[in-house]
Amino acid sequence: MVREHTLHREDLIMPVFIDPRADTVREIPSMPGICNYGLDTVGREIEAILAAGIRQVILFGVPPTKDAVGSDTWDDEHGIIQRATRKLKAEWPELFVITDVCFCEYTTHGHCGVVADDGRLLNDPTLANLARQAVSHARAGADMVAPSGMLDGMVGAMRQGLDEAEFHDVSVMSYAVKYASAFYGPFRDAVDSAPAFGDRKTYQMDPANVREALVEAALDVEQGADVLMVKPALAYMDVIRAVREAHALPVAAYNVSGEYAMVKAAAERGWIDGDAVALELLLGMKRAGADLILSYFARDLATRLPSVAG
Ligand code: PBG
Repeated sequence: MVREHTLHREDLIMPVFIDPRADTVREIPSMPGICNYGLDTVGREIEAILAAGIRQVILFGVPPTKDAVGSDTWDDEHGIIQRATRKLKAEWPELFVITDVCFCEYTTHGHCGVVADDGRLLNDPTLANLARQAVSHARAGADMVAPSGMLDGMVGAMRQGLDEAEFHDVSVMSYAVKYASAFYGPFRDAVDSAPAFGDRKTYQMDPANVREALVEAALDVEQGADVLMVKPALAYMDVIRAVREAHALPVAAYNVSGEYAMVKAAAERGWIDGDAVALELLLGMKRAGADLILSYFARDLATRLPSVAG
């Protein structure tokens, strides 16, 4: 009767990793229960996600080939995300497909854009490529694009590109506040995107900063973002709350790979009740102010949550 917050299945977004080998089902060792799927095997995972009552997925690609600029990302015909999006939207039109828009999985150096000879990430030359990638994803049928590179001006460049290509209805969920975090380890194993040299501290945020998060979020609002994301979630509940209070847009929290792996590892040892801990964490994110939560727990926990639809 006096409960203040409720976590609903509709709050959750399930990440899905797409592998170029069609028949792949490869469990990610540091993420029990999460697999890379090929185009021929992903259907089974999508059926399970929908059956659990989740309609939103975010796609990450493990590309067949990498190069210096990540050209697979804007290849309309052969791009891994383009092929997956076309297939998913054709077979499950009710599925809301979000695509991660970045370059780190697709470049030989593993950085999130164009890199100079001295190894620095070049912000502005990357923007045109981001717009190109977003438009190509939209052409394949993406409902929403999610730029995750933390580049200055990324939301504006993509919004402009989408509008010029008449994709006015494709929305943008910005990884507005993304920290240079140690919690992304398992994800980088999953998609083979650890930087070949250096780190991402020149474009991702310092975990010590919260005022900067508000500046980053405000820039994305101004540039036309539709959803503001905070990532990771667990160590940044205060940031979720701060962004929630400063802006009217929906706020998403990304319950990242390392947060998932910690719970799974402790549960495997019998040290904690994994499902109960996960539900408590997700509820905590909601209470902190998240409207949406991207989580690897989504598929398995959704059936234990109420639906907004009743
Ligand atoms: C790509 C990207 C990353 C994650 C989502 N998109 C990795 C990174 O920034 O290194 C991490 C997600 C996770 O850890 O679950 N830029």
